[in-house]
Amino acid sequence: MTEQKATNVTWHHGEVTRADRYQLLQQKGATIWFTGLSGSGKSTVAVALEAALHQRGKLCYRLDGDNVRLGINKNLGFSAEDRTENIRRIGEISKLFVDAGVIALSSFVSPYRADRDLVRALHEAAGIDFIEVYVDVPLAVAEERDPKGLYKKARAGEIKNFTGISDPYEAPLTPELVLPSHEMSLEDEVDAVLKLLHARGIVPNA
Ligand code: ADX
Repeated sequence: MTEQKATNVTWHHGEVTRADRYQLLQQKGATIWFTGLSGSGKSTVAVALEAALHQRGKLCYRLDGDNVRLGINKNLGFSAEDRTENIRRIGEISKLFVDAGVIALSSFVSPYRADRDLVRALHEAAGIDFIEVYVDVPLAVAEERDPKGLYKKARAGEIKNFTGISDPYEAPLTPELVLPSHEMSLEDEVDAVLKLLHARGIVPNA
């Protein structure tokens, strides 16, 4: 748990509530959290889901490992501590997006169960839906895809602490949804998430 450094700080409420923003936007926010190995297909499904939700008139925003690491988290690497801080910050950012009324589509390797559980707890404490989607492919499949050539480099010892090769990945124990992306079409993956969102009252019909 990250220590609260600043003292004498309290949350300041405005006049406009989260419910007011949801009403204005005619939608309910939620964080959809995609976890899985590099190359598992997290970003691919998040991109397709974003398009499907947008088409249904739902405002969403994608937060993605590489993008975030080029900006707000540019000071973080891939040690266990840095990954924990990466996920903690993204968890807070996702929560802020949802509080603003947006559906946050967050795709991060997020290899540590405790880090993901912390993000879940943050959301639950704020009364915000957190939907964990495990994009589950065998390491061999991700390595075969190797879209960025990183597995090759990791095997050659050119990248240290590479998830699945020289660093652990802790699979979720009770995710809301599992997508074996090597056995499903992208369309079916998107449909599966949309169905879940429908069941949660986030989209009117799948
Ligand atoms: S996380 O572990 O902190 O959640 P994040 O999702 O932000 O990782 O970033 C992972 C992306 O960074 C991967 O998709 C890959 O492109 C790249 N990457 C670079 N080095 C590593 C590494 N050592 N382990 C995993 N991914 C890495």
